Amino acid sequence: MIYKRVGIFALCAMLCGILLGCKKEPEVVFLSLPSDENLEDQSSLMGNIQEVAEQMLPQMDSFESTEDNNPAIIQTPAPATANMGEETANLPPDIDPNLPMVALTFDDGPGSVSTTRILDALEANGARATFFVQGKQAVLYPELLQRAHSLGCQIGNHTYNHKDLTSLSDQEALEQVESLNELVREVTGEGCALVRPPYGKGWKDEHVLNLIPYPLIMWSIDTLDWKTKDSASTIKAVMDNVKDGDIILMHDIYEQSAEAAEAIIPALQERGFQLVTVNEMFACKNIPLEAGHAYRKAVQ
Ligand code: NI
Repeated sequence: MIYKRVGIFALCAMLCGILLGCKKEPEVVFLSLPSDENLEDQSSLMGNIQEVAEQMLPQMDSFESTEDNNPAIIQTPAPATANMGEETANLPPDIDPNLPMVALTFDDGPGSVSTTRILDALEANGARATFFVQGKQAVLYPELLQRAHSLGCQIGNHTYNHKDLTSLSDQEALEQVESLNELVREVTGEGCALVRPPYGKGWKDEHVLNLIPYPLIMWSIDTLDWKTKDSASTIKAVMDNVKDGDIILMHDIYEQSAEAAEAIIPALQERGFQLVTVNEMFACKNIPLEAGHAYRKAVQ
């Protein structure tokens, strides 16, 4: 299988990178890299994307129906393994903590053209976003991860194979998170500090919260871009509802979402919002991001 060969080649290239010492190699919680079986998933990638979108429909709807009743921060006891990750709050000088800000977040990528368009728009406007990537996409487009990281964007963890964390054994769930973390670290030199659970599942599940050693990041504005695939509707969902401290959910695997982002980024800035990463926004608001907790927006 050509895809298997490509996957093996990509892994070899990454391992060579480590051996040559060209990547930072910080303390590591190393779980196994994805098996060949997982890499073979790439062969039906486009089918998978469609499947993922279809699977999201009922589950996202059920999540949406409960959204209004939930507080910004769900408090549960932090596990002993609490780990803030490596991205600490070294705030860039272009942020004014006293002015409004929001965090654009893009799930399920990197895509190819669509993610490139979004990165172009961010770069052209001096803005940053957070990309919650999945591993099976990241192995296809490592150069997009590197570019996002070099632009100051944050790379978050959306699991290796877009798995519902509530449906897995503890070991499987941790492997889904840590194998992607290793991949991101090998590509960018920095691991993921945050997890966004696929399908929005697990953020109210005490077992998942206590198991996953990273903060879970949800959202306060759901554009439903994956459902409508309509840029005007996505733009309206943001511009009609946006407030200081919001986390905005979009997906960078659709052209219509890229088109919407190209309009939303300058429009938000014109309205006075700074576009920053999730870590930056919570640091500016003095809200610590802790493992064992889920966050929907940065509001005290
Ligand atoms: Ni997703």
